[in-house]
Amino acid sequence: MPDKKLIAGFSKWPKAKKIQWLLESHATNPGEMNRDLERFWHPDQELQRIIDGFSENTISNYILPYGIAPNFLIDGRNYAIPMVIEESSVVAAASSAAKFWADRGGFHTQVIDTQKVGQVHFFWKGDFKKLKSQEAELKNTLIKQVASLTANMRRRGGGVLDLELLDLSGLEPDYYQLRVTFETCDSMGANFINSVLEAFAEGLKQFIADHPLLSKNAGEVDVLMSILSNYTPECLVSVWVECSFEALGKYGTMDGAAFAERFAKAVRVAQIDPYRATTHNKGIFNGIDAVVLATGNDFRAIEACGHAYAARDGQYRSLSTCEIADDHFRFSMEFPLALGTVGGLTKLHPLAKRTLEILGNPSARELMSIIASVGLAQNFAAVRSLVTTGIQQGHMKLHLMNILNHLGATELETTAAEAFFSGKTVSHSAVQRFLEGWREAAQVSQGLVMAIKKDNR
Ligand code: MEV
Repeated sequence: MPDKKLIAGFSKWPKAKKIQWLLESHATNPGEMNRDLERFWHPDQELQRIIDGFSENTISNYILPYGIAPNFLIDGRNYAIPMVIEESSVVAAASSAAKFWADRGGFHTQVIDTQKVGQVHFFWKGDFKKLKSQEAELKNTLIKQVASLTANMRRRGGGVLDLELLDLSGLEPDYYQLRVTFETCDSMGANFINSVLEAFAEGLKQFIADHPLLSKNAGEVDVLMSILSNYTPECLVSVWVECSFEALGKYGTMDGAAFAERFAKAVRVAQIDPYRATTHNKGIFNGIDAVVLATGNDFRAIEACGHAYAARDGQYRSLSTCEIADDHFRFSMEFPLALGTVGGLTKLHPLAKRTLEILGNPSARELMSIIASVGLAQNFAAVRSLVTTGIQQGHMKLHLMNILNHLGATELETTAAEAFFSGKTVSHSAVQRFLEGWREAAQVSQGLVMAIKKDNR
């Protein structure tokens, strides 16, 4: 294999040259690698050109399953929800929890607020008290200066909501912040927010330089950076499910009341212990990320914000809570979700567009409700399994299917394997052994049938 030396100008090379270089320098078997890279190119060249354009140095496509979880009754409306996820049993668990709650009134949601946040981080040697005293004037000036940038957003009912000067010089010498809140309606608004912030940064420098009270002996404002914050605790939706203990049904020998007690205990454990909280919340994100991805939204932003929110009191905790009182079970969560249903990938990615169509072209607020419901459903399904049968029972069934698919099992072999492994531990080698035995036996019996047929002739 050739030496892997640093290369220059890679991004400017045509796709074929990039692939050629990769095959020569990084493949154990260039022919096989080339075949796999090519196998996933889209046959529709126009579509492939669009996909290539999403990112840089694209040489193939990485495919993930696009599944549907039906029967999600959310605020009285029935949704079929597209989910993009590679982990087996997530869509099955979401569908099962959706059906369970559809029969018990469904998911209820309330969008608490939709504010997004941006920051201009700056350093300055001036008198902050004096600057703060001019905050109202600064606000008027800056908002006027960005009027043309914000005109479209204001027409749609959004724009800059407020701005505030913060003194953080106690934490870092001369460090201050302009914290700005935005309403970006149905768009995620990242570009809008960042453009306004950069204009604000320039405006702030000018305002201080021109102001007789502020400019004296203070030196220039040093703007370190202007960028939106992915922490949006005020872009928040509340979601809950509830029913009587009796309506929860039976779980083996456990009645609804006992189940509610165990379930609530499991949620409390995730409130107390960060190790459990991380896995508990991961279960929530199994659902959240899958729908965020299917809608072409930024799942890294949603993840970062959700985890920061889970640690808002200084300790990482469960995002969901469970209350049980007076024979009543209520499982709920407040979840920060900064999403868009217009612009960005939501319009460019053909399947993201289809996802929104399947969801009835929701507003960003409605999408917050939908996604939070899937997160809660996923959490309910996981904790329900954990405190009743254990998680492996459901997982093993899908694990078995994956192994059987991989080993090229026929329909008959699959049915036989399902029956054989019911209640048993599934492993790749055990399934392989079972199939080998089954196939050997099938060959023997086929031989016997042939011999009997021959004898009868
Ligand atoms: C697996 O992807 C997610 C779970 O571990 C979540 C949980 O433990 O609550 C099942």
